[in-house]
Amino acid sequence: MAILEVKNLKKSFDDTEVIRDISFTMDEGETLTIIGSSGSGKTTLLRCLNFLERPDSGVIRVKDEVLFDSDITGTVSEKDIRNRRLHFGLVFQSFNLFPQYTALENVTLAPLLLAKENTGIDLPAIEENARGLLDDMGLSDRMGNYPHELSGGQQQRVAIARALALHPDILCFDEPTSALDPELTGEVLRVIKDLAGHNMTMIIVTHEMSFAHDVSDKILFMDKGVIAEEGTPEEVIDNPQNDRTIQFLANYKNGM
Ligand SMILES: Nc1ncnc2c1ncn2[C@@H]1O[C@H](COP(=O)(O)OP(=O)(O)O)[C@@H](O)[C@H]1O
Ligand SMILES: [Mg+2]
Repeated sequence: MAILEVKNLKKSFDDTEVIRDISFTMDEGETLTIIGSSGSGKTTLLRCLNFLERPDSGVIRVKDEVLFDSDITGTVSEKDIRNRRLHFGLVFQSFNLFPQYTALENVTLAPLLLAKENTGIDLPAIEENARGLLDDMGLSDRMGNYPHELSGGQQQRVAIARALALHPDILCFDEPTSALDPELTGEVLRVIKDLAGHNMTMIIVTHEMSFAHDVSDKILFMDKGVIAEEGTPEEVIDNPQNDRTIQFLANYKNGM
């Protein structure tokens, strides 16, 4: 059974339809990469999945739980939205760490808040989990550092640990290396590849084509709010069929 089903998703801002009828499914453990020009709606799609934007219509289902269905009316409480959000983790292009907290505190903050609301706080367990995650990210000697004391690559690895701390079913990345100097890109891509190797279910928006080719089970090419082409990396990147995909990839190879 699919871990994620997105059906007929639509989202407009004012008069502009940014997501125009998007449907796709993914299986547990899959790595799905979304490519496409700037403005094609990639970030908005990830924000809809993470309940940072409310879709205008469509269905979002994770496992067998319907998280969003525009045909079902009724009010949803803040707590409900927070709980639905837990199915997804999101790693932003610009890291978005809390500057006043150390690396470790950035990773423990959300689990602490969540535990306070639900089960009660077990601080040693939450800290142990956070240390383990930072360790996995190669940051065991940086746990007490503040974001401004870390390189961009290190900050992004803290952000990945932070997203993993809430045990999301699906981890989303929005251009995770776009804000990094080229020499720091590799360390972040290696961490993501490692997660793929451990069967983390992931949706990655990236312009790193050779990485996408290497790591993805499936590629979606988005154009003007629709999925213009989808398939394996071999199909979409090596042998694109749609004119827009061909043009996008050609521009890409010319260094755009
Ligand atoms: N909050 C918003 N309000 C108005 N327009 C928005 C908003 N967010 C995104 N857009 C518009 O939606 C379009 C798609 O944006 P985005 O999803 O960021 O695309 P991408 O990530 O593919 O570059 C753009 O034209 C953008 O200006
Ligand atoms: Mg974007």
